[in-house]
Amino acid sequence: ADLYGASRKNSAGLEFGSETVLDALVDGMKAHDGTALVAKPIVAISIEDIKPTPVLSPIDGRTVVGSVANLPVEAVDAVMRAGQAAFRDWSAKPAEDRAVILEKMADLLEENRDRLMSLLAREAGKTMPDGLSEVREAVDFCRYYAAEARRHFADPIRMPGPTGERNELTYRGRGVFVAISPWNFPLAIFLGQVTAALAAGNAVVAKPAEQTPIIAFEAIRLLHEAGVPVGACQLATGDGRVGAQLVNHPLTLGVAFTGSTETAWSINRALAAKKGPIVPLIAETGGLNAMIVDATALPEQVTDDVIASAFRSAGQRCSALRILYLQEDVADRMLEMIEGAAAELTLGDPRKASTDLGPVIDAEAKDNLDRHIALMRKGETVRFEGRVPKAGTYVGPTIVELKEARTLDREVFGPILHVVRWKARDLDKVIEQIASTGYGLTLGIHSRIDDTVDAVVAKLAVGNVYVNRNVIGAVVGTQPFGGSGLSGTGPKAGGPNHLLRFAEEQVLSVNT
Ligand code: NAD
Ligand code: ALA
Repeated sequence: ADLYGASRKNSAGLEFGSETVLDALVDGMKAHDGTALVAKPIVAISIEDIKPTPVLSPIDGRTVVGSVANLPVEAVDAVMRAGQAAFRDWSAKPAEDRAVILEKMADLLEENRDRLMSLLAREAGKTMPDGLSEVREAVDFCRYYAAEARRHFADPIRMPGPTGERNELTYRGRGVFVAISPWNFPLAIFLGQVTAALAAGNAVVAKPAEQTPIIAFEAIRLLHEAGVPVGACQLATGDGRVGAQLVNHPLTLGVAFTGSTETAWSINRALAAKKGPIVPLIAETGGLNAMIVDATALPEQVTDDVIASAFRSAGQRCSALRILYLQEDVADRMLEMIEGAAAELTLGDPRKASTDLGPVIDAEAKDNLDRHIALMRKGETVRFEGRVPKAGTYVGPTIVELKEARTLDREVFGPILHVVRWKARDLDKVIEQIASTGYGLTLGIHSRIDDTVDAVVAKLAVGNVYVNRNVIGAVVGTQPFGGSGLSGTGPKAGGPNHLLRFAEEQVLSVNT
């Protein structure tokens, strides 16, 4: 039942889930100055007062978390020009200075951990373990990209050349980068994009998801407190129209995007249609992630890993498991264990430490998932469906057995696990089926046969492959993360090549 293997008591002996722990989180729900939370654009130009609208919590669909005022699209041009003006000073800063600021940001995130976890629960429906890992990931991005800034940007790379000639390759920022992010990692991915662009010497205009503007607002406020000038990192709250306007602006010299494959296509088309400099797009998109389990796998381990991969974060991770391929000989036994474990999961208010699954992000997401389950009922077998609270946008953990995998050809973003049986002689068909989806984000393999593992790894172009473990929670600097094909362009976030894509190269040849 305990999805995270955590003890139910903390180091002070407090029962996890006790009111004392919850009170601390509720107290955190104020702006830094004790006032109500209002997310608004943070830009280096003056804009008229914009009427805020309430931000409702997915926990019950009613509670007001705070409010948001969006950047008018007409203001985008002035924001981009302010970013361009700030770029000169920011890019001229020594890499060491930029790194120190990012490390200060990491410290501030740690100091504000409880407030941020509280916001992540209220605005994004994140459970306490998910909120904690998200804050940690954001801290890791700051520290890792600070170290990468020192590695790549502090000194030129000396190139070989004839006597009397000095050749040096230098990396430097491109200009104003637009960073567009999703709601499912509203702190970690949001800050991962922003800190990568800043570390490489760019100015940034950050466009958070419309569902999670308050967390973004708090994060950018902390970045400014850490020492990033306002012009070098502006916050453009708003929906896809603001994102599209930023992408189309002539001063945009790079786009970092994380979100759905469909939106990435649209941004790619917009950039291709632009006149002027060729603008790079770093896109991290969706997945139709599979796990292959053969008869040599350990059933208890498979159960744990499937439950975490499919249902943690209510399945709202791009990395989450969507199709489980179970070898026929062991399928019944494995399904019995997985369904038994799913039945033990607790669904509800994410601020309670005993909660395993919180809500999905909003009513539209819930409707889409409910519709998918209804469709599955028509031709497939819905084997398990968890019960849901009446209020709030909850979808219970659901297990659907498919007659064949090709029934599912696109990402279903929530706690729905699809299962397909396969015969031992048909491993190549399974591999072909996975490849034919065109996605390539995460892949799980549970097998004790090295040849099976090697064959699958060699034949599938998938960004992150996990053997005999779960497929979520890539660690910055340890498991660089990102997909191929429909799942993204790379280079991988939290990896050694990421910052270079945010930079341009200059070669200096001096006749000494
Ligand atoms: P989304 O594509 O709907 O929105 C993402 C962002 O794009 C939002 O900020 C949105 O306002 C903006 N946007 C929408 N239309 C735009 C346009 N025409 N031009 C510019 N910006 C526009 O995605 P979402 O629903 O917020 O997030 C869920 C998706 O993100 C899932 O598909 C998930 O797999 C993916 N995701 C991928 C990764 C990864 O690392 N590969 C990580 C997290 C989430
Ligand atoms: N990086 C996140 C994970 O691995 C999306 O789950």
